[in-house]
Amino acid sequence: MTSELAAIVDGLNEPQKKISPKYFYDERGSQLFEKITELPEYYLTNAELDIMKTYVDDMAALVGPQASLIEFGSGSSLKTRILLEHLVDLAAYVPVDISQEHLWDSAQQIRKEFPAIDVRPVVADFTQPFALPTPAVMPVKNVVYFPGSTIGNFEHEASLDLLRVMYQEAGEDGALLIGVDLRKEADVINRAYNDRAGVTAEFNLNVLRHLNTSYGANFDLDAYEHSAVYDKDEGRVVVELVSQADQSFEIGGARFYIANGETILTEYSHKYTLEGFARMANAAGFTVAE
Ligand code: AVJ
Repeated sequence: MTSELAAIVDGLNEPQKKISPKYFYDERGSQLFEKITELPEYYLTNAELDIMKTYVDDMAALVGPQASLIEFGSGSSLKTRILLEHLVDLAAYVPVDISQEHLWDSAQQIRKEFPAIDVRPVVADFTQPFALPTPAVMPVKNVVYFPGSTIGNFEHEASLDLLRVMYQEAGEDGALLIGVDLRKEADVINRAYNDRAGVTAEFNLNVLRHLNTSYGANFDLDAYEHSAVYDKDEGRVVVELVSQADQSFEIGGARFYIANGETILTEYSHKYTLEGFARMANAAGFTVAE
């Protein structure tokens, strides 16, 4: 058994069965997530885009000239493009992603659109420290860029670890430009994760399809339902698949039993207060500039 499959099996063996949200993103899942970002209820993408458009000059001023922009994730989003258009005399753009294919495609795209930028993709799991490439021009500073509130998927300790990796990669005089979703009215959040068109439900269920097709599982996709509920006290959306019967499934040579109503946890999406996020960033070594 591969260590990856072993990790999946471990998660399903826990009292609260869980599957890591990274398994949402096979090709179909990535397409479904694209569709989510276009939903009227999913406010995150539009809100961040508005912030980028409104404050990109201030962001560029904070980044300063001849910086190396290190994007955690493969980039090439509209947000990244807006930023790249406004940064002055960039030393390098370094997208970091675990999926080589995805990374190289988007790096090529950025090269085509920004021929003056030195694009240096790095294939790495960014939750672990990784070596930075050496661009042709020595960067004045490294700026880690992590948009999309993706950090919201990480639990407290793991997000601290990730911020510490970012701090280390940013290095001396380095900086972090990060997008996080703030706490707000529960109704607004619940609507964003329970859209009327049912795209989020499809996205959530796709994780089972992905495990079936790529990891030899045999989940009955019709026997699970999407659930997403904002836990106000914890400040996070709990995304689960709810079993609609007493049933079993197999994966990695093991058989699992799941009761009617029992859940598989597929994702947390943490929401922050400005103070709470600043405290976490401080604990990782950062001070808030803006
Ligand atoms: C990509 C982690 C930011 O938490 O809002 C969207 C994923 N899950 N709808 C989020 C997601 C359900 C998204 N992130």
